[in-house]
Amino acid sequence: MSERPIVIFDTTLRDGEQSPGASMNTQEKISVAEMLAGLGVDVIEAGFPVISPGDFESVRQIARAVKGSSVCALARCKTQDIQAAWEAIREAENPRIHVFLATSEIHRRFKLRMTQDEILQHTEGYVRMAAELCPNVEFSAEDASRTEMDFLCRVVEMAIRSGAKTINIPDTVGYAVPEQFAGIIRELRRSVPNIEQAVLSIHCHNDLGMAVANTLCAVEAGAGQVECTINGIGERAGNCALEEIVMALNTRRDYYRAVTRVITEKLLPASQLVSGITGLEVPRNKAIVGRNAFAHESGIHQDGMLKNPTTYEIMRPEMVGFTQTDLVLGKHSGRAALSAKAAALGYTLDDDQLKALFEQFKVLTDRKKDIYDADIRTLIQRVLLADEAVRWTLESYTCSSGSDRKPVVSLKLRHGDSVLEVKDSSSGDGPIDDLFLAICDLTGYAMTCREYRVHSVTVGHDAQGEVNVAVDWNGREYRGRGFSTDCIEATILAFLDAVNRMVREK
Ligand code: KIV
Ligand code: ZN
Repeated sequence: MSERPIVIFDTTLRDGEQSPGASMNTQEKISVAEMLAGLGVDVIEAGFPVISPGDFESVRQIARAVKGSSVCALARCKTQDIQAAWEAIREAENPRIHVFLATSEIHRRFKLRMTQDEILQHTEGYVRMAAELCPNVEFSAEDASRTEMDFLCRVVEMAIRSGAKTINIPDTVGYAVPEQFAGIIRELRRSVPNIEQAVLSIHCHNDLGMAVANTLCAVEAGAGQVECTINGIGERAGNCALEEIVMALNTRRDYYRAVTRVITEKLLPASQLVSGITGLEVPRNKAIVGRNAFAHESGIHQDGMLKNPTTYEIMRPEMVGFTQTDLVLGKHSGRAALSAKAAALGYTLDDDQLKALFEQFKVLTDRKKDIYDADIRTLIQRVLLADEAVRWTLESYTCSSGSDRKPVVSLKLRHGDSVLEVKDSSSGDGPIDDLFLAICDLTGYAMTCREYRVHSVTVGHDAQGEVNVAVDWNGREYRGRGFSTDCIEATILAFLDAVNRMVREK
C-alpha cells in the first residue's frame, strides 16, 4: 500500500494563543511563524485578523515574512471578518482563508439562534465570498462532533459546492471518543457526494485527554489534514500536540502508512521556543519533548538500554532534537562556534541578532564557567524577543535580608529616558514580596501574584536560575519569565516581563 501525505496545519498562533496567559506580541509571533515554516509545517494559522488591529498587523507581517508554508487567517461567517482575513494574508506566497460556523444543535439554538436552513445559507454565501477572494478556502463546522450526522453531511456538501477546498471537522469541546470520531470521518466519506473534491481535516481539543487519539483514529479513517499546536497549547485543556501526532505517524509508519513534511529533529527547539515565549512550561513527562521523555531510571531498563537501546526506546532522542552531550561553549569560544551552535539548536539569526547574542554570551561567560545548550537557548530567546518598544527595564537593585532582620530592598527601573527608584523599602513579608511591591509601585500596575516558580536552567552551583511568574491584572492573567545567575535578579526580570506584556497589550 502506498503512503499518504498528511497536511500539517499548525494553529499555535491562533488557537494556541487562546490559552490563558499565552498571548504573544508581533515580534514573538513572527519568530514562531518562521520556526514553523523551518519545521516543515504545511499551513500556519497566523491569527484572527478581525479581532483587533494588533492581530491584523501580526497576521499581515507573518504573511509577508513566511516562505515555504501556506499562511492562513480565521474568519467567522461575516463580511468584515472575511475582508479583514483576506487583507491580512493577501501578500502571502500561498494564502488561505479559514471560515467557520457552528453547526451543532446546541450552538444553533443557544449561541447563533439560527435554523438549519439559515446555517446552510450562511455556509453557501460566506464560503463563496471567501472563494471569490482567495482560491484556497477552508471551512470548519464548529462543534461538528456534536452535530447531527445527516445535517453535518449537508453542510459539508454545501461548503464544498461553494468553493471550500478543505473541510475541517472540529471536536471543539473535546467530547468525541476515538472510534466514534473515526465513524464521523468514515460517514462523511461515504455519504457526501462531492467529498473527493476537498481535503478532510480534523481539529481535536483535549478536554478528555483524547485529542491525539481522536486525531490518529480520524487519520486512519481517511482524514488528510491534521490541525495541531506546538506542545498542545490551546483553549482550556489545549489542542492535539503537533510533536505527538508527527512522531506517532513517523514511529508507526508501518501501521498508518502516512507521512508528513515535518523535520523531526527540529521538534525540541520548536517546543522550547514556544514554551519560552508563552511562559507555558512543558511538563517533565510530556511525550516527545518533556525533559524525562527519554530518561531511563529503573535498573532493569538501564541494563536493557546498554545492551540494545531498542529494548526500551521506540524513538532515538536525536530524532526529535535531543543531543547526546550539551556541554558546549566557554569563555574562549568565538562567534563562529556560537553561530554554529545556534543553528544546531534550530535558530536562524541575522547578523545583528548574532552580534547581540555574542555580547550577551560574553557577559554570561564572566558569570559562569560552563555554558550549556539551555543557557544558549535562553540567550537566543532574549535576543530574538528583544523588543524596542519594551518599556520597563532593570537598572539596579539591592536587597538585604537575614533570619534576624527585616528585609530591605532598593530598586531602580528604567522607563524610556527616566529612571525611577524605590529606596530602602520593607513593605512586604520577605525580599521577593518587597521587590514585587516595589515593581507594582514604580510601574503603576497593581498586580496580584498567582504563581512564582524558580528552578535552575542547567546543572552546577553556578547555573542560571529561571523564574516563571503568573500575575493577574485587570481581570487577565499575564506570564513572565526571567533568567540570571542571580535568582533575585531573575525574579525582577520575570515580573518586568509580565509588566511589559501588559504595556504592549494596552
Ligand atoms: O475548536 C474549534 O472549533 C475551532 C474552530 C474555529 C476551528 O477552533
Ligand atoms: Zn479549536
